[in-house]
Amino acid sequence: MKVTVVGAGNVGATCAQIVAEKNIVKEVVLLDIKEGLSEGKSLDLWQTAPINYYDTRLVGATNDYAKSANSDVVVITSGVPRKPGMSRDDLISINAGIVKSVTENVIKHSPDAIIIVVSNPLDVMTYVAYAVAKTTKNKVMGMAGILDTARYRAFLADALDISPRDIQALLMGGHGDSMVPLPRYTTVAGIPVTEMLDKETLDKIIDRTKKGGGELVNLMGTSAWYAPGSAAAQMVEAIVMDQKRIFPCCVKMEGEFGLNDVFVGVPVKLGKNGVEKIIEVKLTDDEQALLVQSAASVKEIMDVVDGMNIL
Ligand code: NAI
Ligand code: 2OP
Repeated sequence: MKVTVVGAGNVGATCAQIVAEKNIVKEVVLLDIKEGLSEGKSLDLWQTAPINYYDTRLVGATNDYAKSANSDVVVITSGVPRKPGMSRDDLISINAGIVKSVTENVIKHSPDAIIIVVSNPLDVMTYVAYAVAKTTKNKVMGMAGILDTARYRAFLADALDISPRDIQALLMGGHGDSMVPLPRYTTVAGIPVTEMLDKETLDKIIDRTKKGGGELVNLMGTSAWYAPGSAAAQMVEAIVMDQKRIFPCCVKMEGEFGLNDVFVGVPVKLGKNGVEKIIEVKLTDDEQALLVQSAASVKEIMDVVDGMNIL
């Protein structure tokens, strides 16, 4: 199996490192537009193999997509990250052009690849990749839900003073302030979280989760990478190992949850065919209304991209 990660910056390099350390694929190609960056990071990472005991080969490529040829999975992290004061949507004009040209090159050399988009604004960049790739909808997805639920689970673990491993959670909608955490579908070792935390504490955690990306941008001056890179690597693992894991991922809606022609996060089954199933969990009227609202805010930005006439 071969995986290419486009963008050797913070998120891309972290994702490549974690995929390599999992020892689940033969080769990881790291590709960037910046001369020498991906070659340098690949070499540095390869020199961790004798220390961290893995066999995955790492290959760097400066804009040379021939090296990515016949990848099974491609992770797109190329683009500019947020700076303090910026929303994810502020990145749209630059990142739409980048994701478009990257996807064209990816598909040219790996027509059967499954594409995982990470670049922001996530839901809209997933739409751009899907529109350009002209492949089936199970093969193009965005990473956000695993990250957002990981933040939510980490905050819950702190509040409850328990292991984050025992917290299962679901979160839907767009990757932004309108995301829809679902406390009704959050459990601690099978126990509904609503039985373990009072509403006020839970509401505070939900609010912090929604602003979780911005909290890190304010602290670091750029957006996060350890958890985003790990989340993308977990999706790669589910696909290349055909694990049939259930994760919230950004995918195209075709009538599910009453939504059409919009890309939002919903629970899916991930396996060797990419998105193998969208799981239509039951939502209350209030939850459905929040999801519809979140999808509408994604659609607004999709319309902005349509207006750019680049697709
Ligand atoms: P970064 O600036 O560290 O890395 C981006 C890399 O992309 C740079 O090395 C740059 O040279 C490269 N690049 C730019 N144009 C390119 C092109 N045409 N072809 C190949 N490479 C190109 O940024 P970072 O922190 O890694 O973030 C990457 C993207 O991921 C940003 O858009 C950020 O907002 C997004 N992000 C999304 C998350 C999510 O949950 N979906 C979480 C964290 C970041
Ligand atoms: C994050 O949530 C900025 O989307 C990025 O960390």
